[in-house]
Amino acid sequence: MVIILFRLLGLAALVVSFVNSTTHPICLASDVTKIESFRATAVDGRKVEWDKSASIHIYFFLGTECPVARLYANRIQSLAEKLEPRGVRFVGLSSNSQDSESDLLKFAKELEIQFPLIQDLGQSLARFFHASRTAEVIVVDRSGTIQYRGRVDDQFTPGVKRSAPSSSELTRAIDEILDGRTVTIPSTPPVGCLISFERSEQKDAPVTFTKTIAPILYRHCLECHRAGEIGPFDISEYSELRGWADMIVEVIDQKRMPPWHASPEHGAFKNARQMTTVEIDSIKQWVAAGTPYGNADELPEMPSKVEGWRLAKAPDKIVAMREQPYIVPANGTVDYQYFVVDPKLTDDCWVSAAQVIPGNRCHRPPCDCFHPPAR
Ligand code: HEC
Repeated sequence: MVIILFRLLGLAALVVSFVNSTTHPICLASDVTKIESFRATAVDGRKVEWDKSASIHIYFFLGTECPVARLYANRIQSLAEKLEPRGVRFVGLSSNSQDSESDLLKFAKELEIQFPLIQDLGQSLARFFHASRTAEVIVVDRSGTIQYRGRVDDQFTPGVKRSAPSSSELTRAIDEILDGRTVTIPSTPPVGCLISFERSEQKDAPVTFTKTIAPILYRHCLECHRAGEIGPFDISEYSELRGWADMIVEVIDQKRMPPWHASPEHGAFKNARQMTTVEIDSIKQWVAAGTPYGNADELPEMPSKVEGWRLAKAPDKIVAMREQPYIVPANGTVDYQYFVVDPKLTDDCWVSAAQVIPGNRCHRPPCDCFHPPAR
């Protein structure tokens, strides 16, 4: 697969060819600001070319596992259906090293994406567009000039989901361009998961995956971030994990991961999901050093996956949350649902452990349990 970007500068033509292979890294000149030609093959084999007759070209950076990008992929698909007849062309780009061609094909199938998806191996397109997050959009007019870049709207950011957007900068920019007006908001901060740009590995780095990082991640993250669990990626796959490196630092810094909402004002909690400062610093050091793997002999054994109950012993009581399953729509968001359950306890008892098991883990339901005050 070959992507070619041309820039014409007076008589001099800068031709940059992008071979879609990690063994052929390419350098795009940092001063390229206009796209005058674009040729690529999408993961489904479709040829994608710069369409001169189109009025707007939209490049949507996505990641197949990023929760925010998944939510916006639906939005982009609906926009594409509505706006393609008006000459707006949509292209999805994945610059994530952890997204394979088959991941992208699966993503398109699952989310019913019709617009072409291009794998940006070598990350040259992300660098060219200065894209940093998955769910970032770049709007290019028919002259090849970038007119808008940033978020789609303000509905979703990692960890926050509103039921509707209060401002929709992408559609506003599209409407303004189609009406021949100036784009009033040319950029907004992008939202979503960080694209981890590949860094060269520091030689003899003191912190390596096998020795220091794997034990930390196994302790704090693996229970949710492994195949079949609720977290979006599998940290037991080192090659996949590397693509999440920068985002891992961000979520740890923002204290979003590991999820732990108990207020420190109310004392120390047993089994608190918290990392130590030393562990956090080690992860940062490892990412800054280019995520070195280390010596395979030092890799600790991965804790085995616990199926079913994770309690010390089989539960004494099992309570159904509902008689009928709660139907989760395929797209969009669901506001918090409150299910009041009466466990029908006749005597006072001390609950030493409890676990919630969802009927379908695909929906990644966050769940909090409250004990309503006794009447
Ligand atoms: C109790 C389960 C659980 C644990 C433990 C956990 N995660 Fe997560 N993580 C999740 C879920 C669920 C999501 C998806 C959130 C969503 O869909 O919005 C997520 C999302 C993420 C993301 C994607 C970005 C985002 O904000 O959605 C990153 C990165 C991440 N986790 C890193 C970590 C790291 C690093 C650890 C360990 C230090 C960790 N997680 C521990 C459940 C967990």
